[in-house]
Amino acid sequence: MTNATRRDDRDIFRLSPTMDTSVLETIADRLEFRGTDEGYARLSQAYFGSVPLDAAQRLLALGCGTGIEVRALRRRTRPDATIVGVDHSPALIDIARRLTTDEGLDNNVTYETGDAHRLPYQDGEFDIVTLHTLVSHVDDPVQVLREARRVVRPGGTVAIFDGDYASLTFAHPDHALAELIEARLRQVLVANPRIMRDMPRLLPAAGLEPIQAGGVLYADICAGSFWANAAEAYGVVLTRLGVLSPAVADDWRAFQRRAVEDGTFFGGSNYYTYIARRPGDVAQRAE
Ligand SMILES: C[S@@+](CC[C@H](N)C(=O)[O-])C[C@H]1O[C@@H](n2cnc3c(N)ncnc32)[C@H](O)[C@@H]1O
Repeated sequence: MTNATRRDDRDIFRLSPTMDTSVLETIADRLEFRGTDEGYARLSQAYFGSVPLDAAQRLLALGCGTGIEVRALRRRTRPDATIVGVDHSPALIDIARRLTTDEGLDNNVTYETGDAHRLPYQDGEFDIVTLHTLVSHVDDPVQVLREARRVVRPGGTVAIFDGDYASLTFAHPDHALAELIEARLRQVLVANPRIMRDMPRLLPAAGLEPIQAGGVLYADICAGSFWANAAEAYGVVLTRLGVLSPAVADDWRAFQRRAVEDGTFFGGSNYYTYIARRPGDVAQRAE
């Protein structure tokens, strides 16, 4: 682990293989809501336009959860391209398989349980590797980036998209309470809340060459939808994990609900994307 990262034993995504079923269901529902939110899907997948999807034959989605980005990639790639989704949570992998089949998107898609720090793949097996809101949750982001670099072919692309959860915020008139809730949310949701600010140093350290980067704010202001759903879902998680008393969490959630109703809601976070390349110039695999 680097000095730049902060580990927190409570990150629900890092602990997802052993997580309580009811918390896991909340996670799965939130991931699906998040991935199908039009604005979020648009910004999270904007990088698809910057990676050579048309030419790719083998793609790997690390930390795929319920398979949101795998299904999005399936819709945007050649039907004969193979897509592998990997997650360390067997329960999330089961949900990903079911949803992918239900949506008729399982052609040449496989899901496997595995740890992004130690991948069971050969060097250079993939043309494109995606890390879609994964690095903020792992024990050792540089090791995960090194594995992504190892399994992508020379000249291949590694795409990293994640929240800058140090900027996650929900307004509340009691500013001390607002800060307390934000701190607790970071504690339960994300081991590495500042990691996307470190990428300009970490990518070269992992042997990857950054070729494009960008950032956006995704906020609900006045009308609440994406972040109102997050407040509802993660407010419940705060009490289930025992980091906030139910009375305080319930009041906070009730306040956020009223803010949605009366058009005064405010919540948001920054997101960043990095497109990196494994140095080297081995041509695309023959078709
Ligand atoms: C925030 S979720 C993102 C899921 C999906 N990529 C999405 O955007 O909807 C993070 C995912 O990373 C997985 N994860 C965390 N640490 C992992 C690791 N070391 N190896 C593989 N998966 C991991 C979690 O189980 C979880 O599904």
